This record gives sequence, C-alpha cells and structure tokens, in this order.
Amino acid sequence: MEKQMQQLQDATDFLIQQTNSFAPEFGIILGTGLGDLVNDITIKYSLPYDEIPHFPVSTVESHSGKLIFGHLAERSVVVMQGRFHYYEGYTMDQVVFPVRVMKMLGIAKLFVSNAAGGLNPDFNTSDLMVITDHINLQPDNPLIGKNLEPLGPRFPDMSEVYDETMVNQALAIAGQNGFTLQTGVYVSVPGPMLETKAEYKYLAGIGADAVGMSTVPEIIAARHMGLTCFAVSVITDLCVPGKIKKVVLLDILEAAARAEPRMTFLIKELIRNQD
Ligand code: HPA
Repeated sequence: MEKQMQQLQDATDFLIQQTNSFAPEFGIILGTGLGDLVNDITIKYSLPYDEIPHFPVSTVESHSGKLIFGHLAERSVVVMQGRFHYYEGYTMDQVVFPVRVMKMLGIAKLFVSNAAGGLNPDFNTSDLMVITDHINLQPDNPLIGKNLEPLGPRFPDMSEVYDETMVNQALAIAGQNGFTLQTGVYVSVPGPMLETKAEYKYLAGIGADAVGMSTVPEIIAARHMGLTCFAVSVITDLCVPGKIKKVVLLDILEAAARAEPRMTFLIKELIRNQD
C-alpha cells in the first residue's frame, strides 16, 4: 500500500478502535467563529491530535487540537477543533490529513467555517457569507503528486464544489430566523500577512467576494473524495477602498465573536435538516 494510504488507514483504524466504531455522518471543521459549537455537542469521545497516529501536531501552540466525536442536533458528527494552515509550515498533505481520515471514518458531508476579509462592497463586518465557489491562489494543493487512487480520481471535477441544495437550505434558515446571509466567492491566499490595498483591488477584480487563508485545500481534498461540501465565512474586516483599516487581530476576533451565535445556529439547523 502507498505510504500515505497506510498512514491514513493507521489513523482511521486507531479512531475506530478508540471510539468503539462510532460512525459519524458529518464532519465539521471549526474555524474562527465556530468555536462555541463545541458547547452544543454531546461529546462521546475527545481525542487530542497528538495521540492519533500520523496526525499533524502543532509545534507552536501549547495545546494541541482535538478530534471530537458526538451528537449535534441528534446527528452523529466528528469535529476538528483546531485546523492546520499552510502558512504554519505544514505540507498540503498534512493540512488535509484529518479530512481524509474523516472520510475514511464514513462521513458523507463536510461543513467548514473560517474568517475572511470582505471584498464585496455590500458586506459589513460580522456578516456571514455562504461560499458558493472558490478561487485557489495557494501556491500548492493537496492533489499534487501521485494520485491516491483509493480516495478519488486523478482529475476531479470542480465545476460544482459547494452543494447548491445546502446553500439554499442555509438561505432558508436565515430567512426564517431573520438574519442576513451573504453568498459569494472565497479566494484562498497563502498568508500569513494580510493583503496590500493593491492586492485587495486585484482580488475583487478577479471575482472574489471574500479573502482568507484556509478552507480551499480541505475542500479540494474533500471533493476529490466525493464529499458533499458546505462552507461559510464570517467577514471580520472590510477590504473595500475607503473602508480599509489597519487589521488588528483583536478586531478580527471581536467581529468573529459577534457572528458566533448566528454561525452556530446556522450549522446546527443545517445539520438537523439533512436527509
Ligand atoms: N485577508 C486574508 N485573510 C483574512 C482577512 C483578510 O483581510 N481577514 C480575515 N482573514
């Protein structure tokens, strides 16, 4: 077996054993603005990343992330609390390793959240934007190299990445509950520096509504494996001429925190409504 496949299988076997064959229907990546969702999960098992074979481990942060198994809205889920970014120095294979394992554990759908800068002039800070399409400007992607045949095809289609049905369900949930939900195109850049004014102008010009430093690698790996995907950004700062301010991390976190109740509600109701 391919070394990478063996490592994925080792991690999967370990998790099946540790969780008494808990079978998650859905995977969730808790990005910025979705941390509180954990409080709504009835946790059955919680495994630190550094105890799972071959899982990437944070070398910088003092506490490692966790893979959580449990129930949300009466559905079985596996949740990544803590994700890996390319700018931290991980390879793309490491960035998407947990997503591949979640698929091998049996999930059919993946839900992802992130924080992003708003390029669309109609957006306000702390708006939620459901991602309807993406542009990959990361310098690398997880499918480069020998194709992992058991996972998916060499040339996966990307003409319909974000599930239209779930986008419409999300819009209906927002409508029924009186909050605004933007939709748009997310562009993924490597970071870690924020963009210059010229870069913001360029990114808006190529058709993006929001810019961030994550999500697209995981979604590419997920679509390669045929997972149905839903992703949502919380707009933490405005990158539109005249509205651009120096970005302070605290302001980003504050805008994300304001959106958190809406984000949590949306994902929970969306999951509740899946077939
Ligand atoms: N640019 C890139 N990533 C981001 C931004 C931004 O303005 N805001 C939050 N994440």
